[in-house]
Amino acid sequence: MVQIKSKDRVRDLAEVYTNEREVNAMLDLIPLKKPDDIITYRYLEPACGNGNFLIEILRRKLARVNEKYADKSVKEYEFYIARALTTIYGIDICPENVSESRARLFTEVKATFDTHKGSFEYSQGFLGLVDYILATNIVVGDSINAPEKINFVEFKISHRKFIRSVFCFADLTQKKPKAKKVLDAEHFLTIGFEYEQQTGIRHEGKQGHLNFI
Ligand SMILES: C[S@@+](CC[C@H](N)C(=O)[O-])C[C@H]1O[C@@H](n2cnc3c(N)ncnc32)[C@H](O)[C@@H]1O
Repeated sequence: MVQIKSKDRVRDLAEVYTNEREVNAMLDLIPLKKPDDIITYRYLEPACGNGNFLIEILRRKLARVNEKYADKSVKEYEFYIARALTTIYGIDICPENVSESRARLFTEVKATFDTHKGSFEYSQGFLGLVDYILATNIVVGDSINAPEKINFVEFKISHRKFIRSVFCFADLTQKKPKAKKVLDAEHFLTIGFEYEQQTGIRHEGKQGHLNFI
């Protein structure tokens, strides 16, 4: 694995990537009370680089989701993949790193889905939702000098709906941070479908009809 991209980037960004072995050794230090905690625990990487920690966290989450839900219906599997993804957050000051992190996680989710359910089997809105979650959760920002300029979306689950609350990163050290905004609960696939409409990104799946049940 390449640990530096250039000497200039090491000087300007302190950019030295962590090897997979060290990433996994560090993640192993985080205790889980029960196996399903890996799906629901929230992880935040405040200097995420090109996503070396984020991708391993995602792999661990997806491994548990696959164990429990890969043989369920497409929509149930998608819901739990999305739910796991909503719990992964990253910040980096360098936009290129943020784009690379998002792309790596997108590819991982899609490859996992394709392996278990087949390419193009996803529901309309699912990959749009993946794009949406990655855009809200992995963001460009200065986590040291300007945490007040960074916003994150917290996703809470209500049946097959997500309730989204916007929080300022600077407030997250408070015991009970106050949300800046709370959006109405929406079906998880509707969020993805609407995001596709807004951005013009379209992912055509076989299950292209808007049947969200
Ligand atoms: C040592 S690298 C670590 C990258 C990744 N965590 C890893 O272990 O592979 C440091 C990263 O921090 C980012 N960075 C530097 N200053 C930052 C700041 N004030 N806020 C957010 N990110 C920053 C750099 O762009 C770089 O990607």
